[in-house]
Amino acid sequence: MPAELILVTGSAGRVGQAVVKELIARGERVRGFDRVPTPGVADSHVGNLTDAEAVRRAAVGAHAVIHLAATPDDADFMSEILPNNIIGLHHVLEATRLAGAKRLVLASTGQVNWWQRERTEHAIRPDEPTTPRHWYAAAKVFAEGIGQGYAESHGLSVIAARLGWCPRPGQEKEVAALDWAKDLYLSPGDAGRFFHAAVRAPLTIRFAVVYATSKHLKLPRFDLGPTKELLGWEPQEKWPDGLPPEVL
Ligand SMILES: NC(=O)c1ccc[n+]([C@@H]2O[C@H](COP(=O)([O-])OP(=O)(O)OC[C@H]3O[C@@H](n4cnc5c(N)ncnc54)[C@H](O)[C@@H]3O)[C@@H](O)[C@H]2O)c1
Repeated sequence: MPAELILVTGSAGRVGQAVVKELIARGERVRGFDRVPTPGVADSHVGNLTDAEAVRRAAVGAHAVIHLAATPDDADFMSEILPNNIIGLHHVLEATRLAGAKRLVLASTGQVNWWQRERTEHAIRPDEPTTPRHWYAAAKVFAEGIGQGYAESHGLSVIAARLGWCPRPGQEKEVAALDWAKDLYLSPGDAGRFFHAAVRAPLTIRFAVVYATSKHLKLPRFDLGPTKELLGWEPQEKWPDGLPPEVL
């Protein structure tokens, strides 16, 4: 049994299940945290992100934390984004710090560059100014900012991962209907391999923002160069790899 524990929040969700599957397949020691039980993870905490004590308990002993749990798209700010994506983020950062974890991987989104993606055809780089559209993406910009703050103040190594589109059940046809969305597709397999690479990347990385998508079909919307350079990760799949044909 490997000694180092990896806590995955949101482990029962679309991305979370792909991540825990990959980590377990690679022999990593995984603990899940979600408000519902996580299939396939023996060490699975059921709790809410808004419960600071539950989050703190889940992080005890963690070497690395992958923070995925969130409201995963635009939603009412006061009832969804504020408790789940802001207050929950606070509790996860604090629990990670108190646990003495070395690596934190935060799920951000390609939506932080909403208007560049609409208006340009170049592959957007992580160092370009962000242009969030609504509260969901703005909260992810906030997460990246405070992630950098914790990296600088508390010596954590923090990687903010701007994910492409890994369709949740029922969203597959939406991606199928949009050319640009296929370029942003993130297959479950590539997502799992990406988060493994992010957890295991050198701890000399103080703070980094990187994109994660599968291979584009038409245009490279996001610059994956820094992801390869820093994490040694490259996508292996493209739309619609990894999806069962009956959902398309
Ligand atoms: N799927 C995508 O295309 C995509 C793209 C960009 C970013 N992301 C980000 O990746 C992460 C995972 O997204 P997903 O698509 O897997 O979403 P999902 O809804 O499938 O999974 C999120 C999980 O978090 C859990 N969760 C939500 N609020 C919680 C709370 N208050 N307490 C405990 N658990 C809670 C849910 O129960 C769920 O299992 C999110 O941070 C999302 O913003 C996803």
